[in-house]
Amino acid sequence: MGRYYVTTPIYYVNDAPHIGHAYTTVVADGLARWHRLLGEDVFFLTGTDEHGLKVARAAEEHGLSPQEQADVTSARYREAWALLNISNDDFIRTTEARHHTAVRELLTAAKDNGHIYKDTYEGLYCVACEAYYTEDDLVDGNCPIHHRPVEHLSEENWFFALSAFEQPLLDWYEAHPGFVGPEGKRNEALGLIRQGLRDISISRSSIQWGVEVPWDPEHVFYVWYDALINYATAVGYGSDPERFADWWPEAHHVIGKDILRFHCVYWPALLLAAGLTPPKRISVHGFLLVGGEKMSKTSLNQIAPADLVADFGVDGYRYHFLGAPPFGPDGDFSYEGMVERYNSDLANNLGNLQARVATVVGKKCDGVGPAPHPDSPLAAVATESYADTAAAWERVQPSLALEATWRLIRETNAHLETNEPWKAEPGPEVDAVLGDALEALRIVTILASPAVPGTCAEIWRRLGLEGRPEDQRLPAAAAWGGYPGGVPVEKGDPLFPRLTA
Ligand code: ME8
Ligand code: MG
Repeated sequence: MGRYYVTTPIYYVNDAPHIGHAYTTVVADGLARWHRLLGEDVFFLTGTDEHGLKVARAAEEHGLSPQEQADVTSARYREAWALLNISNDDFIRTTEARHHTAVRELLTAAKDNGHIYKDTYEGLYCVACEAYYTEDDLVDGNCPIHHRPVEHLSEENWFFALSAFEQPLLDWYEAHPGFVGPEGKRNEALGLIRQGLRDISISRSSIQWGVEVPWDPEHVFYVWYDALINYATAVGYGSDPERFADWWPEAHHVIGKDILRFHCVYWPALLLAAGLTPPKRISVHGFLLVGGEKMSKTSLNQIAPADLVADFGVDGYRYHFLGAPPFGPDGDFSYEGMVERYNSDLANNLGNLQARVATVVGKKCDGVGPAPHPDSPLAAVATESYADTAAAWERVQPSLALEATWRLIRETNAHLETNEPWKAEPGPEVDAVLGDALEALRIVTILASPAVPGTCAEIWRRLGLEGRPEDQRLPAAAAWGGYPGGVPVEKGDPLFPRLTA
């Protein structure tokens, strides 16, 4: 059985989760759920990044110890992911002992291989990024990401000989064309490597909040060099070599564009230095920006997922963020846009299809769902919808996957409108139209379940089917003809009541 190991970034615990963090996490969850449907053995990791200056300073501001700050905020991430029905298999915290062990072991391996040395470092540092910049990197003298002043730091540091990995990285990219996606982000990463790489400082003696350098206890590792290693820790690096060997080659990191350099340049170089292989794939998305009227005065990091879940429900939330921005470019988030998509795709299409089919089955078939017709005109639509949905998930394009799935919903609604079974006398013709619609809906609930799992489980139940959509296995379960017929169909309450903006 194939394996699939998918990760989100581990989020800093200086502040609470917002819809940007949730965006990445929901995408990774969609991927994990899709791959489970394919029958793959899936391991889905998320967690929190708890060391470094940024977290230490947030703790100070709140009058907490760094560990207390980490405990409180890490719990808020867990709560947010539980609220959003995130199906992670593990939640890693970089303050855990298993992680300290892995960090020490991996960096010691890189040092033993001759890629780590001591030197003095002077440079410009952005605490918000936890990263050094050169004068050239700055924009108007400020950090290019946070547009805030940088600080001058000078200290004795341990260095990673990154410059030696320019060619090995270019070779790796060339030999693995799918390593970084989408294409534009791959080119960006290649551009960074081709500009030339400098050795990079990987330790700090000025702070204590971090993983101690095993060969020099005066130092802790620089937070990024500790953080990246979480992906290896969670699948057994430093504790279970066999497990690590099984899972590591299947690693797929989903990240935002702000941390492309760390993941697409530093991380594969460090892995090569330690004698390990880079991950299989890194998918990099753009940033959500706040547009529209209602929230124009709100900055994105003030919008908590729970605020939107209160209005749209968990699946309304998940559907919007998986479907609205294409994966890759930056996208506007607007409340009005979210209402519009909710009403059109969820209330008027999916919700309405389920309600009208159940209503007519109630009236014309005594509430017992008829079997589908083997050569229904919808069969070909379903086949194509499945193929396009699968191809889009494979390319890490959830918005296109949902578009392909929703095509089957629209076509089924259109099929009903053409045949108007609500107007006809009960009989074989009405049964055929309704059986086909029920079968299409059965397939839809499987294909849409990575995006809207709770709703799909409920539709499945109302269709009179046993088990859960997420326990079905593709492609077999998407083949036309699976709806048994002769089972009770329930209408229930509206799945997605219409909203006004
Ligand atoms: O960078 N739009 O953590 P972080 C879309 N601890 N995604 C966004 C976003 C936005 N406006 N804002 C944040 C760190 N994100 C490190 C990572 S990994 C070994 C260490 C998402 O809490 C996006 O995935 O700052 C981005 O990469 C991540 O949150 C940064 O989270
Ligand atoms: Mg950040």
